[in-house]
Amino acid sequence: MLEIESLSKRFGGLVAVDDVSTRIEAGKVNAIIGPNGAGKTTFFNLISGTHLPSSGRIRFKGEDVTKLGADRMAQLGVARTFQSTALFDRASVLDNLIVGHRLRTRSGLWDVLTHSRRLQQEQRICRDKAREALDFVGLSAIAARMAGDISQEERKRAAVALALATEPSLILLDEPAGGVNPEETEGLADLIRKLVKHGVTVCLVEHKMNMIMKLADRIMVLNYGRKIAEGAPAEIRANPAVIDAYLGSEHAEV
Ligand SMILES: Nc1ncnc2c1ncn2[C@@H]1O[C@H](COP(=O)(O)OP(=O)(O)O)[C@@H](O)[C@H]1O
Ligand SMILES: [Mg+2]
Repeated sequence: MLEIESLSKRFGGLVAVDDVSTRIEAGKVNAIIGPNGAGKTTFFNLISGTHLPSSGRIRFKGEDVTKLGADRMAQLGVARTFQSTALFDRASVLDNLIVGHRLRTRSGLWDVLTHSRRLQQEQRICRDKAREALDFVGLSAIAARMAGDISQEERKRAAVALALATEPSLILLDEPAGGVNPEETEGLADLIRKLVKHGVTVCLVEHKMNMIMKLADRIMVLNYGRKIAEGAPAEIRANPAVIDAYLGSEHAEV
């Protein structure tokens, strides 16, 4: 689905992503692990079009997308969540979703000023899609609650619902279970499996190793921007370089 060739990103003198080649396979759970500062989020920023790579190539479904920005990547079907999701705390969960969906499918200013039929139609579509997304992630029951009052696990689900607005075929999840307890982590793992079952390829960054080892089909390990290992969970778990750089450290969570 996604082919990455010698991808690098430099910030001044720092090489945040250093000559990484890999692929993200369709219909699978692809995971990226590694210590803090390893370049995981930067890697997501590159493939989602948020940052332009310093060098290297990215192909999505065979097409060269190296120089495309985030809007274009979203249109092509790549969506992402962020490590921390910004929600309007004093608006309902549903309204957050409607706004999120609306920002991704907006009418022109003229339509807004004239309340055109197209706008009304779009608003209806956004509302329906927002409800559908909330239903998918299991948040229908709290649609009316203020976003500031929901739990961390519910925020993580809302982040996935927001990413679904553009009907992605590839979704990049940055620490989808960060800061949630083990029981809730199980629920989020189920949600990720549900995405794949519905045809959405997943690539995720996580520190929760129990979850990753059970959930991922393949894992890439980054350390100081470089790929140090790649393979099935069992291979990664037994890899001395990975244990040394990451699994044996305090970065990896249970
Ligand atoms: N926009 C930026 N400008 C400068 N340095 C950055 C920027 N984004 C990330 N970095 C640096 O790149 C390295 C990798 O960061 P990041 O991708 O966030 O790592 P991870 O997500 O694996 O913790 C870090 O040293 C970080 O400080
Ligand atoms: Mg990060």
